[in-house]
Amino acid sequence: MRKLYILLVCFLIGISTILHKNNTSSEEERLTIYASLMEEQAIKAVEEFEKETGIKTNFIRRSSGEILEKIRKEKENMKASVWYGGTADTFISAYEEGLIEPYKSPNSYMIPNEYKDENGIWTGIYIGYLGFIANERWLKENNIDMPNCWEDLLKPEFEGNIVLPNPSSSGTAYTIVATIVQLMGEEKGLEFLNKLDKQVVQYTKSGLTPGIVVGLGEAGIGVTFLNNVIRYEKEGYKNIEMVAPKDGTGYEIGAVAILKDAPNMNEAKKFVDWSLTKRAQELGKSVGSYQVLTNYKAASPKEPEFIKDINLIKYDFKWAGKNRKRLIKKFEDMRD
Ligand code: F6P
Repeated sequence: MRKLYILLVCFLIGISTILHKNNTSSEEERLTIYASLMEEQAIKAVEEFEKETGIKTNFIRRSSGEILEKIRKEKENMKASVWYGGTADTFISAYEEGLIEPYKSPNSYMIPNEYKDENGIWTGIYIGYLGFIANERWLKENNIDMPNCWEDLLKPEFEGNIVLPNPSSSGTAYTIVATIVQLMGEEKGLEFLNKLDKQVVQYTKSGLTPGIVVGLGEAGIGVTFLNNVIRYEKEGYKNIEMVAPKDGTGYEIGAVAILKDAPNMNEAKKFVDWSLTKRAQELGKSVGSYQVLTNYKAASPKEPEFIKDINLIKYDFKWAGKNRKRLIKKFEDMRD
C-alpha cells in the first residue's frame, strides 16, 4: 500500500512538472509587444499579424514615456520584444540607455529616409501633427476667439481652461516641450512653458485624453496630435474645432523598434517587417487612427486635409531624444 502511495505521488509530481514546462514554453513563445498607439489599433494589428503569420502575440498599451519607464525597469530581464507606436524621440532616448536593438528591416526600403533612423534604431510607421483643440460651445459662450498661435494660449481668458498631457508620461506632451524649445530657444521656451503652466487646469497621463476632456466641455482648450481630433469628431463630438498654431508646430513620427535582449528576436523581426507593409499601415484608419502613413505605397487617410497649410518646424528628433531627460527634469523642477 505504501509503495502504491509513493508511486502515485511521483506520478502526480511528474505530471505537474510537464504541465508547468509546457505552460512556460508557450508563454515564452508568445511574442509580447508594448504598444503606444491607440488600443484599438494595437488590437487590430495583433489580430491581423497572428492571422497572417500564425505567431501568437499579446500586447500592453501604455503612453510612450510610461513604456520607456517600464523597459528601464525590465532591462535585466526584458519581458517584451517589440515597441510598436509612440513618438520616435522617446525611442532615441531608450536607445541612448541601451534599451533598443537596432534592426534594418528588408521592408524599410518602402519608408523614405526622413521617416527612419539610418542605423535602424527605429523605423517610422506614421506621422502626426501637433495642434489645438477647442470646445466651440465654450468659445461662443465666453465670447472668446480660437487661439491661433502658441502665445495666444497665455491670454487671460484661457487661464484655468487649458488641458495638456504630462511630458513624463506622454510622448505627445514631450513633443510639445521640444517644439516650444526648438521654436523659441531653451531659455525663452522654458519661460513660456512656465507661464503656460499657470493656465493649465489638468495634465493628463496620455496624449489622447486632452481631446476627450475638451470634447466633454470639462476644459475649453487642449493640445494634442490633430489626428486624435479627427477621430473624436467622427465619434460624435460635434462641438469641437482644431487648428495648427500659425507660428509653427512640431510633429511626431510614430515608430516601431525591437527591444534589447528581446526574448523572441525572430518573431520580433517578423512583426517589424509586417508593420512596415502597406497592408499593416492601412489598418489604422479602419479603427479611427488618422495619421499620415510612412510607407510610400500606402494610402494615407484623406481626413487630415489641413496638412497642406500647416507651418511645420524642422523638428530635430535626434536632439529631442538626446535632451528628453534633461528637459523634462527642467520642466518638472520649474513646476515645483
Ligand atoms: O495613437 C494616438 C497617438 O496620439 C499617436 O499618434 C501617438 O504616437 C501616441 O498616441 C502618443 O501617445 P502618448 O502621448 O500617450 O505617449
